[in-house]
Amino acid sequence: MNSYQGKTFAVVTYGCQMNVHESEKIRGILSSLAMLEIDDVEKADVVVFNTCCIREGAEDRAYNNVAALKKSKAENPAKVIVICGCMPQQKQGKYDLATKLPFVDIIIGTYNINALAQYLLLYAVNKKRIIDILDKPNSNLDSEFCVRDDATNAYVNIIYGCNKFCTYCIVPYVRGREMSRTPQTIYNEVKDLVQNKGYKYITLLGQNVNSYGKDLKEKTSFSELLTYLCTIEGDFKIKFMTSHPMDLGDDLIKTMKKEPKIAKALHLPVQSGSSAILKRMNRHYDIRHYYRIIRKLKHAMPNISLSTDIIVGFPGETEKDFNLTLKLLKKVKYDQVFAFMYSRRTGTPAAEFEDQIDEKVKNIRVNKLLRLQKIIQKEQVKKYFNKTYNCLIKFINGVAVGITDGGKEIYIPNYKYVNQNYFANVKIEGVRNHKLSGVIK
Ligand code: SAH
Ligand code: SF4
Ligand code: F3S
Repeated sequence: MNSYQGKTFAVVTYGCQMNVHESEKIRGILSSLAMLEIDDVEKADVVVFNTCCIREGAEDRAYNNVAALKKSKAENPAKVIVICGCMPQQKQGKYDLATKLPFVDIIIGTYNINALAQYLLLYAVNKKRIIDILDKPNSNLDSEFCVRDDATNAYVNIIYGCNKFCTYCIVPYVRGREMSRTPQTIYNEVKDLVQNKGYKYITLLGQNVNSYGKDLKEKTSFSELLTYLCTIEGDFKIKFMTSHPMDLGDDLIKTMKKEPKIAKALHLPVQSGSSAILKRMNRHYDIRHYYRIIRKLKHAMPNISLSTDIIVGFPGETEKDFNLTLKLLKKVKYDQVFAFMYSRRTGTPAAEFEDQIDEKVKNIRVNKLLRLQKIIQKEQVKKYFNKTYNCLIKFINGVAVGITDGGKEIYIPNYKYVNQNYFANVKIEGVRNHKLSGVIK
């Protein structure tokens, strides 16, 4: 019996897949206290805001949503409000949050989320505000508890932190240096998810998965880890994110091609099509290197689905630089592009660069880029015709659908079976109104 037993909680998440997965661990921790999850942040006895500070917009949203709970906390002082994740972990973060949001009860960072239960229990006894931000991980960032959101795709962390220090990015300052989990720990987790819990996709997570294993006593490369995980028996596939173009070697392309259990989909953030900008971003590759990787990937896996991240309006980005990014989109023809306007992050080198771009210009550029990508994506649909993709078969609203590794849905109108949740080859025989239909081969 603990003082939270039977009480309700809600978790609000901002940011990347890493945070989404950490919120699953937060849910696991709160459930282990015998609490019940609800959606309503007004009603919940404990509300946890798992925050992100990658761009100003993400911070503003979290601030506003926490601030909106002021009244409900005043009406119900027993309510416990927690802020955790990347925002408090910034240099000034905890002070800013503590002063601007005085009614928040517990503020912790990215390195002590796994101790959330202890913080809550301590708070229940003392009723005193807790602000505790560690400056490095408390030895093991894994939590033994985890309640996953999705029943098909499971996130599994393989490496924490980032050593890259791209000049625009706050992540290395709030997530610390790279720290890999051992291959055995990952193997055991994946095996359990596939063989005991029925997951079909395992998505391996890290800010830069290609750096996996460099910090381990027994060095293991990312491709070696993948090969090892593919020895797990079962009908499942492995995805991973995020890959950094600088470290994506031929060994990884070879492993992806060879292993049927590795999804033929890759998120490969390029950030800009201009080598001059890439240099100022400290990305450690130029655009020729990036094109070379794309060529190799498409050569090895002609059906591969590619996606990317782009930053528009990085300091010093000229119209010419921006046009090189548009040219890149036309050449690569991504299935999906995530485009962001550059956001100045205090403490990062690029925040101090003098040639910052006007917000209006950023806005015009990002809209132009998104318009172009929309046209490219529409045209891309044609490339699917007559091709065969290995898909996960599911019933969606009673209709059989094959979902490609890249997430494209193919309707199977003449489906003769009762089974779902298995992988099969689907040949696309129809493309109409951007909708695909096909048959199982
Ligand atoms: N580790 C991954 C992604 C990290 S953050 C990688 O290296 O690619 C996800 C994306 O947010 C980045 O790829 C980048 O496009 C974007 N991003 C990061 N910092 C940003 C900033 N200051 N302003 C705008 N976008 C940013
Ligand atoms: Fe940020 Fe660069 Fe690290 Fe990605 S690789 S998390 S963009 S510093
Ligand atoms: Fe945001 Fe932190 Fe992820 S800053 S993008 S939640 S690592």
